[in-house]
Amino acid sequence: MCGIIGYTGRSQALPVLIQGIRLLSYRGYDSAGVSVWRDGELRVRKDKGRIEELAPRWDPEELAGTTGVGHTRWATHGAPSQPNAHPQAGGAGEVALVHNGIVENDLALREELEAEGVRFSSETDTEVLAHLYARAFRGDPVAAARELLRRGRGAFAVAVQHRSLPDTLVAVRRGSPLLVGLGVRENLVASDLRALVGRADRVLVLGEDEIAVVRPESVEVYDAAGRALEPTARPMAGIEQDLGKGGHAHYMLKEMHEQPERLYELLAGRLDLARGRLRLDDLPLSDREWRGLSRVDLVGCGTAYHACWYGARFLEVAAGMPARAVMAHEYERGSVPLGPDVLVVAVSQSGETMDTKLAVEAARAGQARTLGVLNQRESVIGRLVEGVFDMHAGLEVGVASTKAYTSMLAALLILGLRACGARQPDAGRMTELADALRALPDHVRTALARGAEAQAVARDIHRASTMLYLGRGLDAPTALEGALKMKEISYIHAEGYPAGEMKHGPIALVSKEVPVVALATQGPWRDRMLANVREVRARDGEVILVANDGDAEAGRLADFVLRVPATHPWVAPLLNVVPLQLLAYETAKRRGCDIDQPRNLAKTVTVQ
Ligand code: G6P
Repeated sequence: MCGIIGYTGRSQALPVLIQGIRLLSYRGYDSAGVSVWRDGELRVRKDKGRIEELAPRWDPEELAGTTGVGHTRWATHGAPSQPNAHPQAGGAGEVALVHNGIVENDLALREELEAEGVRFSSETDTEVLAHLYARAFRGDPVAAARELLRRGRGAFAVAVQHRSLPDTLVAVRRGSPLLVGLGVRENLVASDLRALVGRADRVLVLGEDEIAVVRPESVEVYDAAGRALEPTARPMAGIEQDLGKGGHAHYMLKEMHEQPERLYELLAGRLDLARGRLRLDDLPLSDREWRGLSRVDLVGCGTAYHACWYGARFLEVAAGMPARAVMAHEYERGSVPLGPDVLVVAVSQSGETMDTKLAVEAARAGQARTLGVLNQRESVIGRLVEGVFDMHAGLEVGVASTKAYTSMLAALLILGLRACGARQPDAGRMTELADALRALPDHVRTALARGAEAQAVARDIHRASTMLYLGRGLDAPTALEGALKMKEISYIHAEGYPAGEMKHGPIALVSKEVPVVALATQGPWRDRMLANVREVRARDGEVILVANDGDAEAGRLADFVLRVPATHPWVAPLLNVVPLQLLAYETAKRRGCDIDQPRNLAKTVTVQ
């Protein structure tokens, strides 16, 4: 994902920016760049590639200067290329601007600016902001920054410098995180705490729609109306200690809380949420090839297998595409009928799982087409497949996968929409889904804020020795994933089932001692799920229901309700898993388990 670093002080800016870019690299990027104020101009160097290749080409003499900005870019609007890399120039080069996030109304703004005679040199949404800033600038950086907040829609964090203000950086934050690091006679701007380590003593977290004017010996903060604010900086020392956990008690909790932003970036990067158009030019398979497929096999293990299950059901329900999920270790060379009309999608967070790798080799041996849905493009599986849908979920440390799971679902949903577009396009449906996806990050945020509901349930169930999880349709894999989270980190035996299967066996387990978690939010499946819940109640079972806000009937049936906002049934699994993640987390915490490193489990399994 993109990263921002800015420096103004007494030292040379270039080495600080390069170091900042290195510290931000863990987020993944495909191009990088810097700009430095020197002799009345902003000198920009940028290109696609890794910082190790780029930095030696940036001449410290030509770029001598003490104020500048740097950036790592992960392509969304336009391919990785020199013109599309940041910083983007505004006006006739009097502005250099770097940006994280997505400007949703970039096309409208671009048309408007073009009509006024502005010539664009990149495909990025960022360049729109650079030109807007340049046009609004009349000597007052706050006024120009307010114009960005006034005109830009979406989520963006921006650091910008203007030729006429040699030692000044301006930071603007809407949605995407942005920090100001305070040092001794020097100050920094960064999108990530990590980039400030070793340089800043204190840190100031910019609030929503705030603007900071950063100079070597001062930092001023304003709101969107231009009123001066007096924010408090926090000492870096305290924060550094749990830098990795971002202030949370565990990586797993931190990673759960990253989901809204990760989902937003993945979805908005791949789907123009305003127009419902997909951006998947980097993936193989033309419309004709999608139409020519007879089947899609999705392969993965553990959490990734649950994502495959959702992906397969979604391809069938939404695109009428025959598809199935197969545990990668069951996908044996020679035993699966394959050919060029079969697409095999390997789903893996690490890209290193041996079973999944062997499944891809089986697919290749059978002449099938291959795609990877991965969090690591440069990985064993990434190198084997024809194309990679890079989830860019960021590093996941907690062994129990959370943000990688929701990112997998989002990626598979986008792939499903790609198949729809080729096989049975429906513009109305795309608009409906784009609306639901636009609201999803906020819905996930709402669900995450309800940790107290999960705590109350955890208090009640933490002594259970067995649990059942039930879901129907697209939420059947959510039930399995919820159960997996519970057993992985709390060591309570938990089984997930498609709810229809319950009366064919698992119902024998139902008793007062076996809590049953049931997912009952999705339109077409809700009523049948409530019927299953009544069967559980009739046998004295305890019911914990995941239900929509305002669903009174569901509330009456259950002992506990974990509420989520209502959304489109195809999108619901991306949201419904969140309370189940929280429930597993709270239960494991009560039981005093090692949440981030549960016993016997490895994050990446590179053996068969
Ligand atoms: C291991 C981990 C699981 C993970 C699975 C697949 O079993 O413990 O959490 O879901 O591997 O990993 P992958 O990296 O391929 O997604």
